[in-house]
Amino acid sequence: MSFFWLLLLIVSVGMCIYTGLQAMDKWKTKSTVMGLERDFYFWRTPVPSFTVCPMRRLSQELFDKYCHKKKITGQPKEDLQIFLETLANSTYFNFANITVRPSIDSTLDRLRLRPAQYMSLIYNLTTDFTQMADENERIRLNDGFRSFVVRQVLTEFGICYLGNSYLHNEYTARYTIFGKYPKINKEHLQMLTGSYFDSVLLILSVPKAFESIGVFIHSAHDALKIEQKFFYTNEAVYYKAEAREIVAEEGFEKLTTVAQRKCRFPHESNLEHFEIYTKSFCMQECRLNLVYKKCKCIPHFYPNRVPNPKPICSYTTLKSCVAKNAEFFRRLHSSKARKTVSCNCLDSCFNSIVVVNNVEVLANLNVFQTGFSVGLEVTSWPLELLKRQVIFTFTDLLVAVGGAAGLFLGFSVLGAIEFFYYFTLRLIWYLRGYRN
Ligand SMILES: *[C@@H]1O[C@H](CO)[C@@H](O)[C@H](O)[C@H]1NC(C)=O
Ligand SMILES: *[C@@H]1O[C@H](CO)[C@@H](O)[C@H](O)[C@H]1NC(C)=O
Repeated sequence: MSFFWLLLLIVSVGMCIYTGLQAMDKWKTKSTVMGLERDFYFWRTPVPSFTVCPMRRLSQELFDKYCHKKKITGQPKEDLQIFLETLANSTYFNFANITVRPSIDSTLDRLRLRPAQYMSLIYNLTTDFTQMADENERIRLNDGFRSFVVRQVLTEFGICYLGNSYLHNEYTARYTIFGKYPKINKEHLQMLTGSYFDSVLLILSVPKAFESIGVFIHSAHDALKIEQKFFYTNEAVYYKAEAREIVAEEGFEKLTTVAQRKCRFPHESNLEHFEIYTKSFCMQECRLNLVYKKCKCIPHFYPNRVPNPKPICSYTTLKSCVAKNAEFFRRLHSSKARKTVSCNCLDSCFNSIVVVNNVEVLANLNVFQTGFSVGLEVTSWPLELLKRQVIFTFTDLLVAVGGAAGLFLGFSVLGAIEFFYYFTLRLIWYLRGYRN
């Protein structure tokens, strides 16, 4: 009989522990969900972000000045210009196009230009079109009434311009390369949002000097992704897009750890090369680590102002090792070897899903010859948004564990106190000789 009781006790304790562990696991890893919110009348949804990359990179004036100062003339100067222009324009699609003429090596030697300085030189020879004194030569973003901030950023497509973004001010080319903040016009607004009743049109005016551009439309919470679709144009283009927001409920950040929510906020960066966290930065870091593993260096367009900077690829490595594997690096997935690189990149907690419905080239809009424009219109707004929520809080965990203990062992807090009481105070009194 007592054997039977022992067995029952063991089974009960086992069940209790098992259920408790399960509740613990649920709390640790499955305690949040994405809920659907439908109260759309009151939302303000951000308009998607723009990134435009000029396809003509260097400023003739700055380059001439530089060559004058360094006393480079004639053929070597021409060769250097085309080399730097194609280097500045290089990315995973076109590393092979970096143009190297015979005089380059001796010129680079004379200038003592190491790969680590490629990006700083390219930056120095690039005009920052957000800072132009003449309004017509500046890159501008407005919605017909107000102006919005545009900043120069460093991307996997080289130096580009970003408008209408939630990303922190650290994400600018100047900060990434030199650690200094650029001048930002305080009167300009950061973000345009719209509500259900609005129809908004954002217009980015691109100066003529860009010649042609690559345009990316993407989430206002993130940077462009190299794997996304983009559009080359040298004429006005007009987008129609929609964005659906992923938000987090109030207190979500405080109530949960990263492991519980499986997403990161921008200030929770665990990345080595990027100070802010977004999914796209995480993918970029994954890509640069892959290049580093394969070619022992990283391309010049990655942020590298870090405690242990990685070596930057020389143009020869870019044209050989990196160019040869560019497709694999870009897709993080190789069809030949059936190899997928696992990046373990968590989502950004705030994000938006942007759908471009329509792209139209408006060829006859450039009548003023001062440049061209990229228009982005949002006419339809989402009727639902996704909200990250906590469904299994610490209180729920207590209840679950306590419930299991109660069910299998008859455990309760009062019982525990009584138990404690019997074996401590009562025992002491008993030993002291009190009897009642
Ligand atoms: C820059 O690269 C793109 C392809 O990524 C190409 O279409 C464009 O012509 C290049 N620009 C220059 C100036 O070579
Ligand atoms: C670019 O300019 C900065 C300061 O304006 C200077 O410190 C840096 O050496 C320059 N880079 C190159 C490669 O000349």
